[in-house]
Amino acid sequence: MSRAIRAAAAVLTLFAASAAVAGAPPRPARLGLCASCHGENGRSAIKGTPHLAGQDLDYLKSALAAYRSGARDVAVMRAAVGALTPAELDALAAWFAAQAAAPQ
Ligand code: HEC
Repeated sequence: MSRAIRAAAAVLTLFAASAAVAGAPPRPARLGLCASCHGENGRSAIKGTPHLAGQDLDYLKSALAAYRSGARDVAVMRAAVGALTPAELDALAAWFAAQAAAPQ
């Protein structure tokens, strides 16, 4: 195989790999901090703890920002998000938004 063909094949393989994961965000490193209450897949088993699965991405991001700033003042959520960076919160929001919504 010539170098050019090998390079083209490598590029195609990369494209195929990225297409396969499109729409499925990587599992966030800090997911464990949220899973105990909201479930790994965003379907909460605890009364009073909302399902996050399938919620609107922008809504989840703004809710997390509101807990972080204290605009939405709920002690458990302030404690949960306090130590996380904005990038980590965005990764968690993307994860939960991409999960299949819980049946109503
Ligand atoms: C100790 C239990 C607990 C943990 C841990 C926890 N949450 Fe929550 N979360 C709650 C409760 C209870 C609420 C509802 C609070 C309210 O009434 O505003 C909530 C609300 C939310 C909401 C708003 C949902 C909505 O429909 O408005 C988001 C988003 C959220 N949590 C994300 C997270 C993320 C991300 C983590 C991990 C960093 C996390 N939570 C960790 C208990 C928890």
